[in-house]
Amino acid sequence: MAVREMVAARPKMPQNRGQRKGIIMENTNEMSLEFDSRSLNEGFARVAVAAFATQLNPTLEEVADLKTAVSEAVTNAIIHAYGKKVEKIRINCCVREREMEVEVVDHGVGIRDVPKAMEPMYTTKPELDRSGMGFAFMEAFMDELQVRSEPGVGTTVWMKKKFGGRSGQRDLSGDA
Ligand SMILES: Nc1ncnc2c1ncn2[C@@H]1O[C@H](COP(=O)(O)OP(=O)(O)OP(=O)(O)O)[C@@H](O)[C@H]1O
Ligand SMILES: [Mg+2]
Repeated sequence: MAVREMVAARPKMPQNRGQRKGIIMENTNEMSLEFDSRSLNEGFARVAVAAFATQLNPTLEEVADLKTAVSEAVTNAIIHAYGKKVEKIRINCCVREREMEVEVVDHGVGIRDVPKAMEPMYTTKPELDRSGMGFAFMEAFMDELQVRSEPGVGTTVWMKKKFGGRSGQRDLSGDA
């Protein structure tokens, strides 16, 4: 068989769409981080998530909103979940089309009454000059917010934001 015929007869390779071990994955891009619950890591966490969001070509305002929300969730994990102890905080991010999901997970004390904790101006640490506005900011700056928590087990804050942004989002399907 001539080389040209062999080339013509070869099976067509599917475009790389996150295909792994025979399973067709969704057209998503994921990132996870785990770090110590030290207040100096709050800045690192919000910048890392903002850097991951650059693939969506966000506006400055969208980046600022995302950073504020991440900062509030991570600060809560540092201060409320673990108090004086240093334990691990995990952030899971997933970009899908024009949306980004961010999950901030701790294994700290947990929250007994989540709806109450999410009320604006509710805080259990007024002595630390907390204003009780963290969840209100997360709600305001992201499109969706869900809080799952169990006392003694920990808390997961899940947020989603849709980016209108500037044109020219990178096409994930073309990536290696
Ligand atoms: N990860 C967490 N683990 C345990 N408790 C939490 C956690 N996140 C929030 N909470 C509880 O929910 C309350 C409300 O949180 P929120 O972030 O709205 O306000 P705050 O942290 O008290 O004040 P601010 O965020 O304005 O400094 C907290 O006071 C705390 O009791
Ligand atoms: Mg807070």
